[in-house]
Amino acid sequence: MSPESIRRIGVMTSGGDCPGLNAVIRAVAKTAIYQANIEVLGIEDGFQGLVEDRVRPLTAKAVSGILTRGGTILGSNNRANPRKYHVGRDAQGKPIFEDKVGACMDTLHRHSLDALIVIGGDGSMSAAAPLVEAGANIIGVPKTIDNDLVGTEITFGFLTAVATATDALDRLHSTADSHHRVVVCEVMGRNAGWIALTAGVASGSDVILIPEIPFEVAHVAQYIKQRVSKGPGFAVVVVSEGAKLKGGQQVVARVDDRSADPIKLGGIGDQIARAIEAHTGVETRTTVLGHVQRGGTPIAADRILATHFGYHAIATLLSGKTGRMVVRDNNTFSDVDLLFAAGKQRLVPTDHPLIAAARALGTNFGDDVTWRHPPDHTPAVVV
Ligand code: F6P
Repeated sequence: MSPESIRRIGVMTSGGDCPGLNAVIRAVAKTAIYQANIEVLGIEDGFQGLVEDRVRPLTAKAVSGILTRGGTILGSNNRANPRKYHVGRDAQGKPIFEDKVGACMDTLHRHSLDALIVIGGDGSMSAAAPLVEAGANIIGVPKTIDNDLVGTEITFGFLTAVATATDALDRLHSTADSHHRVVVCEVMGRNAGWIALTAGVASGSDVILIPEIPFEVAHVAQYIKQRVSKGPGFAVVVVSEGAKLKGGQQVVARVDDRSADPIKLGGIGDQIARAIEAHTGVETRTTVLGHVQRGGTPIAADRILATHFGYHAIATLLSGKTGRMVVRDNNTFSDVDLLFAAGKQRLVPTDHPLIAAARALGTNFGDDVTWRHPPDHTPAVVV
């Protein structure tokens, strides 16, 4: 579409919230209004608001002062999917879904929205796909604390979640030290271990358990016994919610059958704590950080990243492109096909340089791999 023909756009936040959503909304709205005199409407609660036609004007004044605010002024929803939209339950209690792509397109047409900015993760990009097929002009902005979107080297929200988890681990460190205990801290991340790995290294945690490296309790217990007996009488273990025993399954906290992404992970922290206590005899406690990692004000790095992404979403649209997701690759902002990230996950490579560095410092990953001097050591980008 020609950039001159874009007179009015919509913006929505979709999926689980994360720090920096408001910073993106602000950057999208201000760039559109100031640079191209485009009117901006906010869609409330993600695709649910699009189905239910809940939109409101986003003036420059309406987005002023939100850069530092956590959450999203528009609200979000991590269940609503236009193609498989939950509308109720049948007599047996089974969820009933309907196709609401038409309703979404009607809302776009009713408000003369020439394009839609979807701020979301892989699920939201998949959810947007049928609208693109139906002719909607959509630009995606990659969001998630999990940092697991394919096509971009980083998502906004991740660094704030890491800072929050690191702060919590620092605090757990001192109380574990005082009581000569083991503390296990369970962090989020779904099937990717980015939060556990980076916060674990940043906090100097002794054991880091991530989904990409299945662990054995015997290795963790042996390491902790040695550490407790020979040196400091305590240990800090950070475990990703998606971590699993070698040959075992992930621990599921709940199943939300209304959602396209029904599995909610959680509970591995407590299981490991009990196993560590049984194997080592050292008193062990668990902390589950949960949604605290998604809340609060974004750190400076996320405000900057969110501003870049929001600005680039509009710049991409004004360059005549559509059906794209803005990304950062090799520290440069560009865009990829919107569906590039859909249904995929960017997991931590087991040869990631940060894992090598942590192993070199003696960190335990619950396996029996030991660090070896790499024959062809080359400098590497970390995140
Ligand atoms: O994707 C973000 C995330 O916070 C994951 O880390 C976590 O597994 C999931 O969302 C939790 O979802 P909910 O908010 O529905 O419990």
